[in-house]
Amino acid sequence: MRTIEWNAKGTVKMIDQRKLPLEYVVVEFDDYRDVARAIKEMYIRGAPAIGAAAAFGLALAAKQSPATTHEGLLTDLEAAADLLRATRPTAVNLFWAADRMLQKARASEQTAADELIQELVAEAQRIADEDVETNRRMGACGATLIEDGFNILTHCNAGALATVDYGTALAVVRVAREQGKRIHVWVDETRPRLQGARLTAWELMNEGIPMTLVADSVAGHLLRTGQVDIVLVGSDRTAANGDVVNKIGTYNLAVLARENGVPFYAVVPTSTIDLSTPTGDDIPIETRDAREVTHPGGCQVAPDGVRVLNLAFDVTPHRYVTGVITENGIAYPPFKHSLRRMVSDGRKPGGSILRGAGPADSQRTKPG
Ligand code: MRU
Repeated sequence: MRTIEWNAKGTVKMIDQRKLPLEYVVVEFDDYRDVARAIKEMYIRGAPAIGAAAAFGLALAAKQSPATTHEGLLTDLEAAADLLRATRPTAVNLFWAADRMLQKARASEQTAADELIQELVAEAQRIADEDVETNRRMGACGATLIEDGFNILTHCNAGALATVDYGTALAVVRVAREQGKRIHVWVDETRPRLQGARLTAWELMNEGIPMTLVADSVAGHLLRTGQVDIVLVGSDRTAANGDVVNKIGTYNLAVLARENGVPFYAVVPTSTIDLSTPTGDDIPIETRDAREVTHPGGCQVAPDGVRVLNLAFDVTPHRYVTGVITENGIAYPPFKHSLRRMVSDGRKPGGSILRGAGPADSQRTKPG
């Protein structure tokens, strides 16, 4: 099944990702407040998947609302959107999807309440379907960079589980594989929540894609010794200047990739590009519970009472980013212009696949 689905009986089903890879459990909610809790507690995670969850959560909120007027329904939806938005501050898809649902509701002033609920369910479904289509297009764009025999390094889980289906960075891996290219993926375990070890490894192994799991601290050695041809990561929010916010540890990888002449690409649907945020430093970075660090997998590894800083994301300044792969093409520096083009191209019906000027020579090849 997809990561998240609307059930015909009017509920939301999602895979409980906290349990993977040991157990595959599907949970079902009929209350948007439970969907908000599920986002916060990371039953569902990954920027585009969180966006779809917010959309389906708002469809549930419309169904739950006792309001009999359009204005009353809008008030209830806005309250539900506030609750959903407060769950995770960094992933911009959450805000993007909530805004899109509210816009739909506001624009349907003349629609009867019953019909509006159906329209909101349909809009949430469209957001989910478009995500899968977008990911396939991103995969196709990105696969042009992958050569037969490539070793790809990835961080966190930017796969089907982070989206509605198919993935962002792993969409590129999937398409390259479908094209018959022999590839191998280095998977960072991704402390502290181990999305790489638990989720990326599970996804790739299920599909028989060759991979090796490594502790996060191994990446530098792999990059220095020429065992990585390209680094592919996702993003939770990419600023207008090309600064990429992604899972904590991404910045380390980008700097090490540059030091060793390995190209570093972020694979980012245009819904994750936030043109209203000028730089990565303007993006709120989520801080999470200390127990994620002190008790990985529920097992205590640090002394009682230890002080912890558990930042979920970091900012990779755009100077370390070789390119940003979107569903509309690959953006290259200067990102201020190329990202804007990618986003506006998606708004045109039948927008074309664009390509930027290509990476700077310093980022194209590994040192001899
Ligand atoms: O904390 P998570 O698991 O939600 O973080 C997810 C990531 O950092 C992904 O790389 C990101 O959402 C982009 S991939 C779709």
